[in-house]
Amino acid sequence: QVKKRVDYRAPVFTITDVNMDVRLHPTQTRVSSTIEVKRNGEHDLPLTLDGDHLTLVSLTINDTPHTDYQETPGQLVVNQVPDTFSLTIVTHIDPQHNQALEGLYLSGGTYCTQCEAEGFRRITYYLDRPDVLARFQVTLHGDKDTYPTLLANGNPIARGNNDDGTHWVTWQDPHPKPAYLFALVAGDFDLLEDTFTTMSGKQVKLELYVDKGKQDKGHFALAALKRAMLWDEQTFGLEYDLDIYMIVAVDFFNMGAMENKGLNIFNSKFVLASQDSATDEDFFNVEAVIAHEYFHNWTGNRVTCRDWFQLSLKEGLTVFRDQQFSADMTSPLSNRIKHVRVMREHQFAEDASAMSHPIRPEEVIEMNNFYTVTVYDKGAEVIRMFHTILGEQTFRAGMDEYIKRHDGQAVTCDDFIAAMQSVTDIDLSHFALWYSQSGTPVIEVTTQYDADKGLMDITLSQHTPKTADQNDKVSLYIPVAFDCIDSQGQHYQDDDGQISNGMLMLDTAAKTLHFSNVSEPLIPVILGNFSAPVKVDNELNASQLLAVFKYAHDNFNRWDALQSLYSWCIVQYEKNTENNVDNQIWQGLEQVITTEADNHELLGECLVIPSFETLCQTRKLVDVGALNRAREAFCKAFADNLQQPLQTLFDKLPVNPYQYSQQAVNARRCRNVVLGHLARTADAQGLIEQQFANADNMTDSLGALKAAQISAGPLFDKLMTQFEERWNQDPLVLDKWFGLHATTERDDILSQLTLLQQHPRFAMGNPNRVRAVVGSFAFFNTAGFHRTDGSGYQFVTDYLLELDAVNPQVAARIVTPLTQWQNYAPQYQNLMKTQLQRLMNHGKLSGDLYEKVSKSLAYD
Ligand code: ARG
Ligand code: ZN
Repeated sequence: QVKKRVDYRAPVFTITDVNMDVRLHPTQTRVSSTIEVKRNGEHDLPLTLDGDHLTLVSLTINDTPHTDYQETPGQLVVNQVPDTFSLTIVTHIDPQHNQALEGLYLSGGTYCTQCEAEGFRRITYYLDRPDVLARFQVTLHGDKDTYPTLLANGNPIARGNNDDGTHWVTWQDPHPKPAYLFALVAGDFDLLEDTFTTMSGKQVKLELYVDKGKQDKGHFALAALKRAMLWDEQTFGLEYDLDIYMIVAVDFFNMGAMENKGLNIFNSKFVLASQDSATDEDFFNVEAVIAHEYFHNWTGNRVTCRDWFQLSLKEGLTVFRDQQFSADMTSPLSNRIKHVRVMREHQFAEDASAMSHPIRPEEVIEMNNFYTVTVYDKGAEVIRMFHTILGEQTFRAGMDEYIKRHDGQAVTCDDFIAAMQSVTDIDLSHFALWYSQSGTPVIEVTTQYDADKGLMDITLSQHTPKTADQNDKVSLYIPVAFDCIDSQGQHYQDDDGQISNGMLMLDTAAKTLHFSNVSEPLIPVILGNFSAPVKVDNELNASQLLAVFKYAHDNFNRWDALQSLYSWCIVQYEKNTENNVDNQIWQGLEQVITTEADNHELLGECLVIPSFETLCQTRKLVDVGALNRAREAFCKAFADNLQQPLQTLFDKLPVNPYQYSQQAVNARRCRNVVLGHLARTADAQGLIEQQFANADNMTDSLGALKAAQISAGPLFDKLMTQFEERWNQDPLVLDKWFGLHATTERDDILSQLTLLQQHPRFAMGNPNRVRAVVGSFAFFNTAGFHRTDGSGYQFVTDYLLELDAVNPQVAARIVTPLTQWQNYAPQYQNLMKTQLQRLMNHGKLSGDLYEKVSKSLAYD
């Protein structure tokens, strides 16, 4: 059932207050909910509530039994209701058999909830839409011994014991909120406590709940929370608004984390971290996700979305905020590159697929399918462009205005744009098309050089290829960071001053820049710091790219130049013209390594060869086998030709006792990237084994394992066995082990996967584990997934058919690589579509999977 953005109607009833009483029971939890309902406007419509998987027990209006109602699939229609009334509904639900992990579920001995987007309707009948904001009071009853901790949103206001061995706690949340921000938790945890004093001097209690015995792994997350709270005060003047802030880590969770008011629930992957069990990347992610959920308190909770088409209002903005925070806490360059990789590997692919949508989608079947890289990451890029166009201070003024206007409201992306517009003279109406146009714009750079006159013209033109959802595209307003150099590193200004502050605003189909007094063709350096989420078509040759690396001011441009150079080299291998990858190039790269040897951050990024997925985005109808082989051949040549400088660099990189500091992270990253290259040379086994044996931290252990995986010798299996023995009891580390196995390119990978699924610690009910095995395989095992006999696709499809009946949300994520068939050569396409068709033919597909599979098959 398709819902369209343009069909939005204000609710005909609203709810002001909710009083819930929840008696927890594994299979028959009793939820009694009393809601204060008000008719909106003049009409005599019945009250239609949403509900799913509920057993209705009783219904009263103003304490009088009411029988004039109908239950339909998904709804409860209550007829003959007054204009203002109190409605009490008692329902039973079954948390234990809730394997979709939406609504209230019991897993790993803990009750918890996930209500966004539309999970609250699995707890009780309600107006489950984000523009209905109510005050909630919740009383939880649970067994005292099994569930000593009973949590809900807001502040605890009363507690006591019942006669039957259960106890109860009442929670009150003073801030009106939509139902998707509702949460409750019951369990037996270790608790970490701290406090934070806000800028106005209020003391906030901070509580972090983790599984028993894991207390030591929670300190980093708690400290990160305090850093995020301080940062949001200093950067945006935003202060926390309740007396208590709670975070609970659970092992069974469909996504990363959830910003429920005052009671965040997290996938334990984004909370637990210790030196020996978490990598630097894990530490980074914990800090980023903790911050993300905290930042939602203002951008998402205090100001929320009117309807789900507006999701990017809170997600794009909050991702931008967490990116800025991470950049401040760690380093701007590596952060920017990380996000650009996500855009190029995943968002561009989504834009090119049947699921293409603008950051504000126009139509949706299953909302859960729209928590996408487009809404989140491209959404954040759009906010970043506001920031770039307006400048830091004006952006801040716009944010202040946005919060001031809309605190306590459910609003739209247009409201955000209007707030930004109110603080600037720049007309934002053209820019706003980024919200409605899907697809990845391409900026093409063409040059004209007149040697006699010493003139050079550089033309930037834009076009956006049509997408599955939209045929007609217009020119967008694109901030393009622009620099221009010659082969000696001189920088040039354009004659007419169209470039200001290093930016060209490309707001028409094309613009031409004129340069005079030039004595050689200039080199355009485009899109510094990835100033817009676009592809750039700028044909530079190898020596020009090396000059950009040498002389450009913007480190992102320098990194990107080498990425382009590698990509160009890989093309030579694809075309069997690898002789073009000549000594001059290897010498240039050797110079990169030697001159930047002390810049571990830059080198750690620059020595990474573009991933297969990134390479796909600049090619059409990819012959997977050929591209993968070409990439591998180039990697091998890279290692062979640069072995000496790489080895020298490796030996010089310090190995110090573990510390999570930016400097140490950079050095470790650089060292492990280099080890990955050396792994392709003859005498690497010793190095790898040594690092594995000596590592005092997970980053280096995993770095050694990945190097062993690349080296493809017997060492890999040997180390993996040791690793499994050591970490068998730690689910998060074990996920890394599962993931490494699943991404190994080997001929017998499918029987390996079958073995992994029979592993005693594998369970279809555990999303992290399913993602580690089946997800890693489908997304990242290029050779295995794309086996030319189609068996890789078939394997994933077989699994999805089972998984979909258990957890549709996770199934719909993992199907993504299959739905992106249009990227590949016809022989792959056909095999992929055969499997999609199998899914389609299966009568009982979930709405989640149905939407993605049917769209994908309908796309030409
Ligand atoms: N709001 C959450 C976050 O970004 C994610 C919720 C995802 N929900 C979903 N149904 N996929 O932090
Ligand atoms: Zn979010």
